[in-house]
Amino acid sequence: MEFSTKAGSPEKLKGACLVVGAYADRKLSASASLVDAASKGALTNAIKHGDLNGKRGSTLLLHGLPGIQAERVLVVGLGKQDELTDRTFAEAARAAFRALTQTGAKDAVVCLAEAAVPKRTHADNVRQCVTAAREVTYRFDVLKSKKEEPLVLKKVAFASDKASAAAVEAGIAEGTALSNGIDLAKTLGNLPGNVCTPTYLADTAKKLAREFHLKVDILDRKHIEALKMGSFLSVTRGSDEPPKIVCLTYSGAAAKNAPVVLIGKGITFDTGGISIKPADAMDEMKYDMCGAASVLGTMRAIAEMNLKINVVGIVAACENMPSGTATKPGDIVTSMSGQTVEILNTDAEGRLILADALTYAERFKPACVIDIATLTGACVIALGNINSGLFSPDDQLAAELLAAGQAASDPTWRMPLEEEYQEQLKSNFADFANIGGRPGGSITAACFLWRFAKNFRWAHLDIAGTAWKSGSAKGGTGRPVALLTTFLKQRASA
Ligand code: BES
Ligand code: MN
Ligand code: ZN
Repeated sequence: MEFSTKAGSPEKLKGACLVVGAYADRKLSASASLVDAASKGALTNAIKHGDLNGKRGSTLLLHGLPGIQAERVLVVGLGKQDELTDRTFAEAARAAFRALTQTGAKDAVVCLAEAAVPKRTHADNVRQCVTAAREVTYRFDVLKSKKEEPLVLKKVAFASDKASAAAVEAGIAEGTALSNGIDLAKTLGNLPGNVCTPTYLADTAKKLAREFHLKVDILDRKHIEALKMGSFLSVTRGSDEPPKIVCLTYSGAAAKNAPVVLIGKGITFDTGGISIKPADAMDEMKYDMCGAASVLGTMRAIAEMNLKINVVGIVAACENMPSGTATKPGDIVTSMSGQTVEILNTDAEGRLILADALTYAERFKPACVIDIATLTGACVIALGNINSGLFSPDDQLAAELLAAGQAASDPTWRMPLEEEYQEQLKSNFADFANIGGRPGGSITAACFLWRFAKNFRWAHLDIAGTAWKSGSAKGGTGRPVALLTTFLKQRASA
């Protein structure tokens, strides 16, 4: 889908479909009022007959209105005007594009971004429309022999005037870059474990590096062994699939600016290892690399946006498999940091690979480090599928991430991180264990990581409940690419 701007009064705009908003309580938006006046009251008529109520997400398609240049008019319900928020606006935008794709219109002119959403700019609204359009038209059919019908809607123009043209252009550019990042993360998540291997993630990083002039460094088993990453290596022992640690560097600012380091958990399939998982829904453990996918998606988005910031993206990738060579419960390993770990459960593998990636991150002298991981089932129990879990000993960094999540409609909820929980990780035989029992399972997992994150500002995002959807809507969500991109954008402009 191609996005552009179009200047002129709504009734004069040519195209297959004109999209305007209407509020609940019989109120028309500015564009809808102009359409109503030009069409001698077509919309007030529709209100009178009960066909148009402006309820949030409702749509009404009208053909061949007199006095209107466009072939069709789609009126989208924005809900009550005084209840308009980012979220309700995005919901209406999604409804608009869903309805649009069900018409035969090849192109559309959208007049929704004029809506006054509290604390949001015109550019924000355009970005929301672009991401909504991309969200409802996202497809994953590369592995189906019969492809879905191609999309009829090819071109979307946003209404603009002299005063708003630059903002509309900026909104389109940002929305497109963000959607490209989100789609990459979704697709990497949706690809099965026999396609999306650690090598595939590394190849994806190489491709990004070529396209966006990033620096890429891929560590293979030999390098990883030379670095003495005993914790990481314990996870890959049972697998025949070569492990990779990928470092992508984006330099958008002067070299003297310390980089933000993003670390993604990239378990391309998590069987649980010798502590094997039950068969039920085990297929969903192909999504256990969604942290890594979100790092690659974010690197893509910020590079396309040309953000003035330095960022290093680290992807720690391997499989967690049972075999004759696999790590056994009770095995003790030495991490790159020198700390020893008693592996009481091989299914608590995410923290084992992240531990060494965190130690590795020290060499970048980071401004801060954020790890992103589908780390614990306990986080899904605690927060469900709405909020990602945010853990950080750093109140300021936590506040920044909370705010970015709110701004991006990709929310997090702060969870406790306190020394008192460390007791649960006590081991009789090593420095500590890799599990802390069922109580506060997502907190003890974060506490484990904390032991490897003492030398920089750090936050951990547990995305186990938010990275993908189960059931009939099974699929990657692309979260938290929007949150991370917004966080970096705010840092770049600070
Ligand atoms: N990748 C899983 C976490 C997970 C499970 C995410 C289900 C989403 C849905 C992780 O590696 C894991 O298995 N964690 C264990 C830890 C436990 C053994 C302490 C868990 O959550 O059960
Ligand atoms: Mn696991
Ligand atoms: Zn896992």
